[in-house]
Amino acid sequence: MGITFDEKSRRFALETENTSYQIMVDKHNRLIHLYYGPKLHGAADYLITCQDRGFSANPYDAGEDRTYSLDALPQEYPTTGTGDFRSPALTVVDEQGVMGCDLTYQKHKIVAGKYALKGLPAAYDKENTSATLVITLEDQVLGLEVDLYYGVLEKTDVVTRAAVIRNAGEGCLRVEKALSANLDFVSGEYDLITFHGRHGMERNTDRQRMINREIRVGSRRGASSHQYNPLAVLAERDTTEMAGGCWGMQFVYSGGFVCSTEKDQYDQVRFQMGLAEYGLSYPLEKGEELIAPEVIMSYSNSGLRQLSWNFADTIKEHVIRGPWQTKIRPVLLNSWEAFYMDFDGEKLRGLADEAKDLGMDMLVLDDGWFGHREDDSTSLGDWFVWEEKLGGSLRDLVDYVHEKDLLFGLWFEPEMVSEDSLLYRKHPDYALQIPGKKPVRGRYQLVLDFSRQEVVDAIYEQVSKVIEENDIDYVKWDYNRSIIDVYSAESACQGKVLYDYILGLYQFLERLHDQFPNLLVEGCSGGGGRFDAGMLYYTPQIWCSDNTDAIDRLKIQYGTSFGYPAMSMGAHVSVSPNEQCGREVSLQTRSLVAMAGTYGYELDPGKMTEEEKAQVRGEITRQKQLAPLVMDGRYYRLSDPFTAPVTAWGFVSRDAGEAFFAAVVMEVSCNMPTRYVRFAGLEPHRFYRNESDGKVYASDALMAVGMPLPFKTGEYQSYSWHLELCGE
Ligand code: GLA
Repeated sequence: MGITFDEKSRRFALETENTSYQIMVDKHNRLIHLYYGPKLHGAADYLITCQDRGFSANPYDAGEDRTYSLDALPQEYPTTGTGDFRSPALTVVDEQGVMGCDLTYQKHKIVAGKYALKGLPAAYDKENTSATLVITLEDQVLGLEVDLYYGVLEKTDVVTRAAVIRNAGEGCLRVEKALSANLDFVSGEYDLITFHGRHGMERNTDRQRMINREIRVGSRRGASSHQYNPLAVLAERDTTEMAGGCWGMQFVYSGGFVCSTEKDQYDQVRFQMGLAEYGLSYPLEKGEELIAPEVIMSYSNSGLRQLSWNFADTIKEHVIRGPWQTKIRPVLLNSWEAFYMDFDGEKLRGLADEAKDLGMDMLVLDDGWFGHREDDSTSLGDWFVWEEKLGGSLRDLVDYVHEKDLLFGLWFEPEMVSEDSLLYRKHPDYALQIPGKKPVRGRYQLVLDFSRQEVVDAIYEQVSKVIEENDIDYVKWDYNRSIIDVYSAESACQGKVLYDYILGLYQFLERLHDQFPNLLVEGCSGGGGRFDAGMLYYTPQIWCSDNTDAIDRLKIQYGTSFGYPAMSMGAHVSVSPNEQCGREVSLQTRSLVAMAGTYGYELDPGKMTEEEKAQVRGEITRQKQLAPLVMDGRYYRLSDPFTAPVTAWGFVSRDAGEAFFAAVVMEVSCNMPTRYVRFAGLEPHRFYRNESDGKVYASDALMAVGMPLPFKTGEYQSYSWHLELCGE
């Protein structure tokens, strides 16, 4: 088992294949963090030093010992009110607002298998090779108990964390802050890597030096957000793709979050992740509890590439569920960029004919099929088919598509309501809005109060009826604004609404998962505004961005790859010039870039020339050939699209027998240096045959120097190499 407890030293050791994590219960019963890093044989308790330091106070039970201060000690779950003035993981107040909370060790248990969290997504382990540690801490004066959960997934070098905060006393408590993971480092020079963005340009990478200050990123939007992804990496200064130590955290949660890092007065570093404090003031009556959702942590001592693989494999093997976990995803044609909301039944049948003719697997009917939705000002909340627009029933259309042996997908935005809808007219209180105040609109729409069971039920009934009656194979689950007016008509305490909202969302998705086990759900939030491990537990793929421009996508998919597998990233080919940014890019390059995710098209093939259609058929054949490699292979970032003149990436099978590398030229100039694309992950001292030219190449040269690109290439020109290991 990956977890042990040494009674004598009261030390816990959590072991994965390549990493160790150690915790100690100290002489004053505080839970001290000892170590997280490369595999360790032996104890790390000698790392803890204590000094008498000014303005770093001492808990009463330390007696005369002025060297014992929680302001300086590395801790597992620091709280407000102990004299540790760094960022706390937990702030709980009593009825009078008193902040003193001091947690000490009470008991622990170690059990086989991976824990689950009630009502929340969490990594699972079907094979039961993992282990769980639960350490219970208490503050008797406050009447508070906290269970710290640790899950150990040995093969992917992951330690997960979560916490259950329980009112074990008589009075009422309020949780003002509840993070899930806290990592304290006693020394070291680090960089922080975060993933920021905006609508249409998600997950840009940023690497900054940790100096003596607190750096916080997060989301107050009620969703994980386009602006910052709940993923962060702390890397040693000299860490690169291939070498060096790095620690990553990602949140298995889709609501607001905070990731905070702090280099303190003694040059120690704290790294934390958990629920956003914004909007959180969660009341706990006697016996009630709040769960701080799961954070997946991983450490790699061989660079960022390995850390990304640890995350990607964990998402693939322990987060994504159901038959689509391992099934190759259908090549889809989505109606959005083809027609937007301007369609009828005939146009959609035409789209299905084209999809079939080109070799695709599924037609997805996007926004505009319900209520009387002519534009985005109306009908959200009225999930019944607009038959007049379709010129018949949805069932007829679905049957038409199914008869062609294509799957049928449908768009929903279940969490939203338009003021112009039957639902809103009947139940204005179903929307989150503050009494006496006009709500803030986003895309004309309001957010439904998913913290209320009856609202979740009302929408579930409508949505599940459409899915069931029409034999829908795929749902695109959209979410197109941020939450602003936090007021639930039924809640006595508004500080719990944002948290309970996400529980409502997860409950809905779980019911969908139970009732329609074969349904493929693609997450979406104006593209990638809710691209997180929480959603991936219910939706095996997520539309990566509303931006379908292939060149911007190189950056978006690059950033996303630090935490998520390629098979989770929805990526489609759209028209050129691109409808979002006007850039012109060849069909070949657009296809190649989309092939690094779950593939599809987002255009009207009826407007293509015969020559283009022939090319699309060829690209689809190629994609189908490559799909298993994209699904199961290892992903390689070969260059950084934000800085390199050529963006290159690749997939290599686990046994290195097959590889696919691709490159896009980002800039050209006259008489420029020859560009080489340097491959990685091949079997050393062997030979590989390239499919397109039939030539055989020595793997060592491909990895040491690379493949030369043609001298006179063009901007956004693309190249690819499909390699097979051969005997020569
Ligand atoms: C969002 C999605 C798009 C599309 C539209 C429909 O912006 O990200 O893909 O579905 O909504 O309104």
